[in-house]
Amino acid sequence: MTMRHIMAKSLAPTDGVREYLAAQEKKSLLRFLTCGSVDDGKSTLIGRLLSDTKQIFEDQLAALERDSRKHGTTGDDIDFALLVDGLEAEREQGITIDVAYRFFATPKRKFIVADTPGHEQYTRNMATGASTADLAIVLIDARQGVLRQTRRHSIIASLLGIRHIVLAVNKIDLVGFDQAVFDRIVEDYRQFSRDLGFQTIVPIPMSARYGDNVTGRSDKTEWYSGPTLIEQLETVSVDEAVVELPFRFPVQYVNRPNLDFRGFAGTIASGSVAPGDEVVVAKSGKSSRVKRIVSYGGDLAQAAAGQAVTLVLDDEVEISRGNMLVSPAARPQVADQFAANIVWFDEHALLPGRSYILRTETDQTSATVTDLKYRINVNDFAHEAAKSLEMNEVGICNISTRTPIAFDPFAENRITGAFILIDRISNATVGAGMILHSLRRAENIHWQSLDVGKHVRADMKNQRPAVFWFTGLSGSGKSTIANLFEKKLFATGRHTYILDGDNVRHGLNRDLGFTDADRVENIRRVAEVARLMADAGLIVIVSFISPFSAERRMARELMADGEFIEVFVDTPFEECARRDPKGLYARALNGEIKNFTGVDSPYEAPENPEIHLKTLGKSAEEMVDALEHWLNERDIAEDQYDSGGGI
Ligand code: ADX
Repeated sequence: MTMRHIMAKSLAPTDGVREYLAAQEKKSLLRFLTCGSVDDGKSTLIGRLLSDTKQIFEDQLAALERDSRKHGTTGDDIDFALLVDGLEAEREQGITIDVAYRFFATPKRKFIVADTPGHEQYTRNMATGASTADLAIVLIDARQGVLRQTRRHSIIASLLGIRHIVLAVNKIDLVGFDQAVFDRIVEDYRQFSRDLGFQTIVPIPMSARYGDNVTGRSDKTEWYSGPTLIEQLETVSVDEAVVELPFRFPVQYVNRPNLDFRGFAGTIASGSVAPGDEVVVAKSGKSSRVKRIVSYGGDLAQAAAGQAVTLVLDDEVEISRGNMLVSPAARPQVADQFAANIVWFDEHALLPGRSYILRTETDQTSATVTDLKYRINVNDFAHEAAKSLEMNEVGICNISTRTPIAFDPFAENRITGAFILIDRISNATVGAGMILHSLRRAENIHWQSLDVGKHVRADMKNQRPAVFWFTGLSGSGKSTIANLFEKKLFATGRHTYILDGDNVRHGLNRDLGFTDADRVENIRRVAEVARLMADAGLIVIVSFISPFSAERRMARELMADGEFIEVFVDTPFEECARRDPKGLYARALNGEIKNFTGVDSPYEAPENPEIHLKTLGKSAEEMVDALEHWLNERDIAEDQYDSGGGI
């Protein structure tokens, strides 16, 4: 719905109003958010801005449209209509979670404020709201001064590319409008934020509750000569140069309603484009020219950052969702390894080695943190060694993606340089990332193509590769069953290998313990080794507790279709503890061993294993019979398939 559309619906304006509204449409837009700690008056401030500015607006309209019967409701409609254009981008991204965007306008500017609620998830919501904001209002309770939260949120704002800060020293009425209190807080904040790269920091003493220095100047702070909040918001000159940046068009979908039309739909992230312009497909390097720019209102002679359009090209080039059309003169980077800042939101820590879904503006792939270089202490910016990132922490890491993505460093482009991380199991957005640069090493390592492939290696062994992945508690019988299973396979001429937790932890994984982070890395390495062995044509039996669903899923995704067979060795905790073959349960229950699976470290049972072995009251032989049966069935089914259905 366009603005014109809404206007037409809401009223039949007089000439005066029409002119006024036309002027509104051309006004610049400032996006901002408020941050600070709980109870510092955020909602009061937003409420005051909305109601005061609405008043200003309505007064003006009333003056223009004295006779209009409708002017009582006009205010609301226009208020909304003015800003509706700015909203579409958010809706399309579909990643705005709890953040509500509120709109208001003054005679000089239009505003979108990201209202970021929630105590628990404040950082997550704030990062979401900040991703498109030009300015942050950092709220400080004058009685409290600069708090840990103030610092954390300021660092996040800085990481997210915000360059303008209003330091709102709120509740100044509660400290008797005392200049000394104000000065001290301002000094503290300036000291702290020296290295955050803010271009402007404008401190304002205010009372959101009573309106002092919000929209009107307070007569109780005569010592203050700076702008009111609204004056600052109206005049701060924000960088509106995204139109000047190189052309970037992340493709959202291929629009092909019939054989005669093929266009690429999306929102221009930066720069501008016109028919005749040469464009390059970021990932393939293929080039073409723009033939038409199609929009709802008809073809355009030019389109720029922020506009949603469909581009039709001269040639039939291959482009799918997630790829980008870009300017040939300044191409983005394409890499599968890069360094990034990460802000972590989830209550489950970020664990290096774990696989997450990484989503950029339109692209999506699997990603792992290969190296957490350090965590940033939000109080003093110290770089601290860390093995994981907890909720609300910020860190610098190396990331590796399964397929290459096209991007710009975040410092150059806030849209094409940002991504979010999504948990594979819960589907929750768990982190936000800002790309620093690609890693050189990725550029120098390429897949070597080999002449002898997996299939010939397996054919020579007269078998199909498989990875039997045994998971279950310690003492559940994994190793016993695995051992017997291998013996049987071996006897029938199969080529096999067992990867066993206790054994691998003596060699390849001897540096790893039993923290969540170490277990993730343990499984990652073993999954990679299992993959190599399957590639060598072997039937691999992996016997690890592998307590987390996320890593088992990661292992599954590493293997070819149908090659990964999850075997749940299901023995109840009580039974494992009773058997206690290595005496470990007794010690763990006594508190002598920490992070013991089933005691003080979780075991996430498989939900849909290919094979579910309920061991209670059964012998190892019976279990192995079940496994052999399964393998034979699979081979018969595949033979059938190979020979076109007949046996
Ligand atoms: S996993 O969780 O990372 O998959 P893995 O299978 O390699 O574990 O190792 C489990 C074996 O290590 C157990 O069978 C047990 O013998 C031993 N072990 C020692 N400490 C622990 C512990 N805290 N939790 C579980 N197993 C432990």
